[in-house]
Amino acid sequence: MARFSRIIGTGGYLPEKVLTNAELERSIDTTDAWITERTGIRQRHIAAEGEFTVDLAEAASRQALEAAGLSSVDLIVVATTTPDRVFPSTACLLQSRLDIHGGPAFDVQAVCAGFIYALSVADHFIKAGTANTALVVGAETFSRIIDWTDRDTCVLFGDGAGAVVLRADDGPGILSTHLHADGDYADLLHVPKGVSTNLASVQAGTAYVEMSGREVFRMAVQKLGELVDEALQANGLERGDIDRLVPHQANIRIITATAKKLRMPMDRVVLTVAEHGNTSAASIPLALDVAVKRGDIKDGDRLLLEGFGGGFTWGGALVEWRS
Ligand code: COA
Repeated sequence: MARFSRIIGTGGYLPEKVLTNAELERSIDTTDAWITERTGIRQRHIAAEGEFTVDLAEAASRQALEAAGLSSVDLIVVATTTPDRVFPSTACLLQSRLDIHGGPAFDVQAVCAGFIYALSVADHFIKAGTANTALVVGAETFSRIIDWTDRDTCVLFGDGAGAVVLRADDGPGILSTHLHADGDYADLLHVPKGVSTNLASVQAGTAYVEMSGREVFRMAVQKLGELVDEALQANGLERGDIDRLVPHQANIRIITATAKKLRMPMDRVVLTVAEHGNTSAASIPLALDVAVKRGDIKDGDRLLLEGFGGGFTWGGALVEWRS
């Protein structure tokens, strides 16, 4: 009998502090009009001093587990680019917080495509019969790797966490996942230093995101367009067969281009970019959680989740929703 992973619970958490475009106008040479027009972002949430990625992950995970009616899972995968420690992984720290013990727990690093990578890994564990349940989290304190004087990048990002619980089922569920990377583009969107290359800059808190915005924009639109075709073809579906797009929330113009490729009206696209900004690995599960809680997603809906990020990495998951 076929074996699928089904999403049986979602959760999301955003730090309390909100940073609006108007506040950014006071600290850097920008305007609310520029940010809104070019990105669709109006505000973002910023973690408090002493609030860390695992704290955000824990809050989102507790909600997802409660929604799923589970207190434990076989597997924990956390997608993050901003882990609390070099090691152990955020997934291990989270496992302990949740009082779950013994099963595998690990992080994946694929920046803004991280949640799709983590979801795909967990889906493969479940399909292979290695796990029956899994907690998949995207959690970031991206504000900590942003140079808040660099207007090219600081207006884009925010903090948050989203989580889903998967359970094995004999019906869909996740229909397919599609992962890609091309490391030749590493320098177009990166934090140029790390532990191995320059620990001092990491310790000094000066290892920041650098980005060639136009090139990233162009490649994101191209690769996500190709991904739409790939996901449809893999499932023998037409554009009109997808009910909802749940995109990575980097920029409203990138999202609009992908919706256009799907010939999907924007009212079928889950949008949180205005309120959340780009929360990297957290943005897709956060958007999914918002849509689920709003009651926008109905049984039988086909959802395309997709994301693009540093690496470059990109990927998607086609999901048939059953609550
Ligand atoms: N406020 C005001 N002006 C700004 C600004 C800001 N925050 N940031 C850049 N500018 C200026 C630039 O300096 C440039 O000025 P110039 O023409 O005098 O040189 C001008 O605005 C236009 O810059 P440009 O880079 O051409 O704008 P854009 O239309 O490409 O928009 C981004 C810039 C960053 C919004 C856009 O390229 C983008 O979204 N790229 C993808 C980024 C992304 O999603 N990254 C994460 C992927 S996971």
